[in-house]
Amino acid sequence: MKNVNQFGGNWTEAKMKIVVDYAKAYLTIMNKQPWVKTLYFDGFAGSGLIEKNEAEDAIKGTALRILDIDEPKPFDLYYFVEKDEKNKKALENKVSIEYPKKKAFVVQDDCNAKLLDMARYLQKNKNFRALAFIDPYGMSVNWNSIEALKGLGIDFWILVPTGLGVNRLLTKSGEIDDGWLNKLEQFLGISRTDVYNRFYKKDIVNTLFGELEILNKEKAAIEKASKLYSERLKTVFEYVSEPFVMRNKTNSIMYHFMMATNNPSGLKIANEVIKPQYKL
Ligand SMILES: C[S@@+](CC[C@H](N)C(=O)[O-])C[C@H]1O[C@@H](n2cnc3c(N)ncnc32)[C@H](O)[C@@H]1O
Repeated sequence: MKNVNQFGGNWTEAKMKIVVDYAKAYLTIMNKQPWVKTLYFDGFAGSGLIEKNEAEDAIKGTALRILDIDEPKPFDLYYFVEKDEKNKKALENKVSIEYPKKKAFVVQDDCNAKLLDMARYLQKNKNFRALAFIDPYGMSVNWNSIEALKGLGIDFWILVPTGLGVNRLLTKSGEIDDGWLNKLEQFLGISRTDVYNRFYKKDIVNTLFGELEILNKEKAAIEKASKLYSERLKTVFEYVSEPFVMRNKTNSIMYHFMMATNNPSGLKIANEVIKPQYKL
């Protein structure tokens, strides 16, 4: 099997364009502050290539597109995290052969562990600013890994699996498996009581033996999940962008893609780069 990640549709292109456009604007600002060192952190880096379909050649993934940026300047450091051994090796090969001059590290690990390491690194190296891109398929980023980033100079793009993740665990009846509740707590950083308060309402039904209280899932749970995640990010960062909504072919929402930062200029740019992508 080839070491490529699967293409998810037009929104894969849109997502990559958002990150690359943002990175260029980010580097333009950083170029005016030569004392600042820049780090690009990619927590779910992939193999470097994305396969569209059997008939077409694979296209470059975000990691390589970011490495391609030389104007206004490249990043000072690149840190790519990839859990899968084959993908990690494939990316490492590409980086060493095609970008020998760039200071890039490719590590095989879990993104959560490396987010905590990055937080420690930025606490020690005050002259560094980071642009992070967190692109998981599912709910693999723990809330406590994000909490560790509080107060640091990070612009943090994250793909939030509101439709493909959170909404799927929120059953209609409210009877949720213990493992799924643990996952929701770990992912959102709130208690199961709060999960119920946010996503369920209590209704009274009349039965033969009197009134009975039942739980019903709230409408628009996916949008509610996006709002909740944005609220959670605002407890760690000062600003959170509008989300870029990613839908599948049947128009169901799969993900919300958003950026959190402590920098007002970053927020403005993020909202600017998101908008035109809706036309792709
Ligand atoms: C959506 S793909 C990444 C695509 C890539 N960001 C791009 O734009 O080209 C997700 C990748 O994350 C890797 N992965 C899955 N779980 C991970 C984890 N906990 N930590 C780091 N990488 C992980 C998978 O092996 C997969 O290659």
